[in-house]
Amino acid sequence: MCGIVGYIGKNRAVPYLLEGLEKLEYRGYDSAGIATVENGALRVLKTKGRVSSLESLIASEHRSPANIGIGHTRWATHGKPNNANAHPHESQSGLFCVVHNGVIENYLTLKTDLQAEGFVFRSETDTEVIAHLLEKNYDGDFVSTVRKTTAMLEGAYALCILCREFPDQIVCTRWGSPLVLGQCDEGCFIASDVSALLSHTSDIFYLDGHETVLVSANGMTFFDKFGVPTKKQSRHLDLNVSAAQKEGYDHFMLKEIMEQPRAVGDTIRGRITKEGKIAFEDFHLSDDEVRDLQRITIIACGSAYHAGAVGKYVIEKLARLPVEIDIASEYRYRDPVLDPHTLVILISQSGETADTLAALRLANEHGAKTLCIVNVVSSSIANEGGSVIYTHAGPEIAVATTKAYAAQVAVLYLLAGYLAEKRGLLVGEDLASYVRDLLALPEQIEKTLASCKAQMEAFSQLFIPLEHAYFIGRNLDYACAMEASLKLKEISYIHSEAYAAGELKHGTISLIEKGTLVVALCACSAVFPKTLSNIKEVKARGARVLAVATEGENTALSEVDFKVLLPNVNPLFSVTLEVLPMQLLGYYTAKNRGCDIDKPRNLAKSVTVE
Ligand code: F6R
Repeated sequence: MCGIVGYIGKNRAVPYLLEGLEKLEYRGYDSAGIATVENGALRVLKTKGRVSSLESLIASEHRSPANIGIGHTRWATHGKPNNANAHPHESQSGLFCVVHNGVIENYLTLKTDLQAEGFVFRSETDTEVIAHLLEKNYDGDFVSTVRKTTAMLEGAYALCILCREFPDQIVCTRWGSPLVLGQCDEGCFIASDVSALLSHTSDIFYLDGHETVLVSANGMTFFDKFGVPTKKQSRHLDLNVSAAQKEGYDHFMLKEIMEQPRAVGDTIRGRITKEGKIAFEDFHLSDDEVRDLQRITIIACGSAYHAGAVGKYVIEKLARLPVEIDIASEYRYRDPVLDPHTLVILISQSGETADTLAALRLANEHGAKTLCIVNVVSSSIANEGGSVIYTHAGPEIAVATTKAYAAQVAVLYLLAGYLAEKRGLLVGEDLASYVRDLLALPEQIEKTLASCKAQMEAFSQLFIPLEHAYFIGRNLDYACAMEASLKLKEISYIHSEAYAAGELKHGTISLIEKGTLVVALCACSAVFPKTLSNIKEVKARGARVLAVATEGENTALSEVDFKVLLPNVNPLFSVTLEVLPMQLLGYYTAKNRGCDIDKPRNLAKSVTVE
C-alpha cells in the first residue's frame, strides 16, 4: 500500500524524506511526493513515477533548507496515477497539507458537501477531502482541528499533516492503517512502516487507533482517543530492514496471506450504501441494460480464472444468468459469438496480462459490453474496459497470488448480489442478509487463518516428500480445488492435479493407489454427500485423504485420515474460507522443501505474460 514518512529535527528534512521513501519502495507505488515548510509557506513537490524522479525534480527545483517535512509513495486507489493525484494534498488556500494511507469510505458525500460550500478539488482522490476539511474545521489549534476532522471520516486512515500556521509542528493520527514514530539525536521520524525508521532508531512508538501525536524538533506529545495528553512507551525492536519490510513474516507470501482480512474488507466496504445496497463507482451499465443481459462470459488467466470459476457459480445461482468462463489464451484465438446482450468480464490483478488484454480488445471490437476487475489502477486493462471495478488488495509482491485472488472473489460476490438485485431476484430481507454475511467475511477470514495456520504447517510435512498430489471437489469446491492445486505446484514444484470429484471415475481414478494423497474439498454443503461418496471411492483404492469441510460435517468424515474444519458460514461464501488452508499448505510445503518462495522480485508484481 502507500507509504508515509515524516521528519522534524535539527537537520535538513529532504534527504531523510527521500531515504525513508526509498526504504518503502518495496511496497510498490506509482507516484511520490514531499512537502516542507519554508519561509512560512508550505512547499509541495510531487510526481508520477519513481522516487528517483522525485529526487531529480527536487535537484532541479531547489535545495530546501527546511528541517520539517512529510513524504508519500502512492499506490492508486481513487483516480489515476498522475501528478495531480499524487500526495501530499493541499487545502484550498494552502493552509494545510496532508499525506494519507487508507481509504475514506464516505469521501463522496464529504466531497459533494465541500463542493457545495465552494471548495474546489484538484484531484480525484479521497485524500483531498481531508485537506479541505482541515481548512474548514480550523479553529486556531492544530491538534483540535485534526481531531474534529477525523471525527467526520469513515474508513481507514494514517495521516501526517503540516499546517502553515504551525511551521515547527507535524500532527499525525491513525485509524485502521498503521503509523509508527521514533526519536533520536537527529530529531523525530514518522513512517507507515518500521523499515523506514530502523536506520535511525530501533525504539519504536506504535500509534494506537484514534490516538493523535504532535511532533516537534524536541519531542512528541501523544493524545489518547479523548484528546487527553498521555504517556507512551516505545518498544525496542531487534529487526533488520528486510525482516521489517515483511512485518516479521519469513516471506511476502505469508504476509499477504495474513493480509486477506484487510484486502477483502477494503474491497467490500465502501461498496455497500447506507441503505444496505451494493453500488459501484465506475459501473457504466444502466439498470435497463443489466435487466437486458442474456449471458456473461468471464475471461482470465491462472488464479484470476479460478476466481472467475467462483463467480460463475455465484452469479448463476443469484442472478440467474448463464455464465461461461474461458481461459484468455484460448479465448483470444477463437471466433467467439458475442452480441450487445453479453457482458464480458475480464479479471486481472496486474491489469497487464497480455492474453487477458487481447481478449478484452476482441470483446470490445465485437461490440460486447465489457467490465474489468483489476487491482492496478489505470493499468492497460482498466483503461480499455467499458466499466471497471477495482479490487482494493493493495500491491501484491509475492509471485503466487493470494490476497488479490481473495479480493477478486469478493468483487464477484458483490457483483452477483448487484446483478441479482437489479434483476429483482435479491430484494428485501434476502438482500439485507446477503450483505450482512458479506460484511462478516473479513472477520471470518481472520478467524480461519488464526485457527488453521499451525495445523497447515503441520500437515505440510505430509506433502514434503510427494511427487504427486490430487485435489478434488464439486461445484464451488472444484473452483477451490483448481486454486489449491495451482498454489501447491507453483511454488513447491510438486505435480498436482485438480479434478471435479465426479469426473475421477472416468479414467483418472486409475492413478489413485495405496498411499496417494488426495485433498478432498467439501465445504460446499449442497454437494457434500456426493463428494463424500467420491472420498469413499479413493479410500477404497488405498488413498490417504485430507478433507477440508465445515464443522457441521465433522462426524460424517470419520473415515478420512486428516481434517481441517471451517466455521459454518453462508454456503456461498464457504469457498473463501476453504482456500485459506490451501494457500497455507502451498506456502508451508514450499518453505519446508526449501523452495524460493518470493523469488527475486523487488516491487509489486505487474506481469505481462505472452
Ligand atoms: C498464480 C498467479 C497467476 C496469475 C495469472 C494472472 O499464483 O499469480 O496464475 O493469477 O498470471 O495474472 P493477472 O491476474 O495479473 O492477470
